[in-house]
Amino acid sequence: MSEFERELNLLIKARYPLIYLQTAEETRAEEILRHIAQQRHKRVYVWTYTRGYEPPIPAPTETASTRPLAPELEAITHLLRLQDEALVILKDFHPFLGDQRVIRLLRDLYPRLHRSWRTVVFLSPVLKLPPELEKQITVLEMPLPTREEIAQKIHEILLVLKASHPEVRTDLSPAELDELVSAAQGLTMDEIENVCARSVVEHKALVVDAILSEKKQIVRKSGVLEYYDASETMDDVGGLDLLKEWLRKRRAAFTQEARAFGLPAPKGVLLLGVQGTGKSLSAKAIANLWGLPMLRLDVGRVFGSLVGASEANMRTAIRVAEAIAPCILWIDELEKGFAGVQSSAMSDSGTTARVFATFLTWMQEKRAPVFVVATANDVSQLPPELLRKGRFDEIFFLDLPTLAEREQIFAIHLRKRGRDPQQYDLKRLARATEGFSGAEIEQVVVAGLFTAFDAKRELTTEDMLEEIRHTVPLSVMMREEIEALRQWAQMRARPASSAALARAKRTK
Ligand SMILES: Nc1ncnc2c1ncn2[C@@H]1O[C@H](COP(=O)(O)OP(=O)(O)O)[C@@H](O)[C@H]1O
Ligand SMILES: [Mg+2]
Repeated sequence: MSEFERELNLLIKARYPLIYLQTAEETRAEEILRHIAQQRHKRVYVWTYTRGYEPPIPAPTETASTRPLAPELEAITHLLRLQDEALVILKDFHPFLGDQRVIRLLRDLYPRLHRSWRTVVFLSPVLKLPPELEKQITVLEMPLPTREEIAQKIHEILLVLKASHPEVRTDLSPAELDELVSAAQGLTMDEIENVCARSVVEHKALVVDAILSEKKQIVRKSGVLEYYDASETMDDVGGLDLLKEWLRKRRAAFTQEARAFGLPAPKGVLLLGVQGTGKSLSAKAIANLWGLPMLRLDVGRVFGSLVGASEANMRTAIRVAEAIAPCILWIDELEKGFAGVQSSAMSDSGTTARVFATFLTWMQEKRAPVFVVATANDVSQLPPELLRKGRFDEIFFLDLPTLAEREQIFAIHLRKRGRDPQQYDLKRLARATEGFSGAEIEQVVVAGLFTAFDAKRELTTEDMLEEIRHTVPLSVMMREEIEALRQWAQMRARPASSAALARAKRTK
């Protein structure tokens, strides 16, 4: 029995009369409900708008009533005529829950249902609950299938295939099965069936890559998450030794051995700092360092066009990430999405604040191994609650690169473009780029290449020095902002680079 089934079972046992189950997986939810009903010796009644109750509920003897009620009202009044030991499933009843007559009826019935052993479950893909019923109806969200459930499903699929499609390979090793299960995590049962069917048609086998690529599509369709295939590695990141060391130490943190050793799963890290210093780059490189899948959460898209959908979007994102765990959840430029939390009550009737609260609570309480990597350029925009202890394991401050770091960054970008760094005067280039960010150094290399290409000769150190002379780095234009950020970070964040730390001490 899954965690979710246990929870649902408990609510039914404790006589919660009205339960709202939000799920896109109607079939799976119904299966679970029927399973619970069977254990609790309850009879199941299923209501749909088109067919009414199945099995039908006998009409009262005094049917001389004046005129027939609307189906949705009848659905509710019938509830009282049911035997005590009943589990009632109302499918897609959400459009009627806003109806004043339905609300009144449910509020009248509530105390009587509460004393009985009848349980009513509203089963809907969307959550629509009028405030008048918030106290009476308990809302549960069905999680995506667990590893065990997926393994069971794949096992069933293989059995069917073995009988019906002997040409398909079904004798998979435990390791191969495990890989299939991992690939299918994050999908609904229906999606898993479809994806497997497709793989069988196309490849005459259950192919991990086929399932993964389908999953990427499906996750993207969910709107707010995107699979990020990171090609960046830590070798692409110059400097930032302390950050790299911290991450390297936690590389094996999600393994079973780490758990057994008593290590907690890391929650997340916030990379804060000057623009162009490698925050996004480092975030991407973590996926490769740790060998985990990476999901990118677009906070902007969480606040989609549909009013009221934002919270659902955030919860969907969390649910998918937890189903795919262990994984990395990357939130780039966090402050952009959550700017306006403070003024949210006025500007958007609290939506931003509620979505933010959902996220914070999850960060605080999550137990699934989802490692959050967030980046931010501007602390003044960040809600202070986010920076409190317990949310992120660590807040790193990425300052402008030091002399030695700039040398490394030049070497990285020259090598990336097929040049041998030893052919260039890296020391001189590094000295000439005081105050440049990593992104600006990359630009210098690229611009130098353009010059050389145009002149039909090889790139020289002089080409790049010339480029440097024409560049005014952002740090000059934003001196005060950067100084303020440094001041702030000195108290609250950990330096990402030991050289930058030493420099800061010297200049104090
Ligand atoms: N420390 C660094 N080492 C190597 N390249 C860097 C570094 N910092 C920035 N860059 C280059 O600049 C680009 C933009 O940096 P990015 O990580 O997006 O900056 P931000 O800190 O604003 O997120 C990177 O893709 C990379 O090519
Ligand atoms: Mg960035």
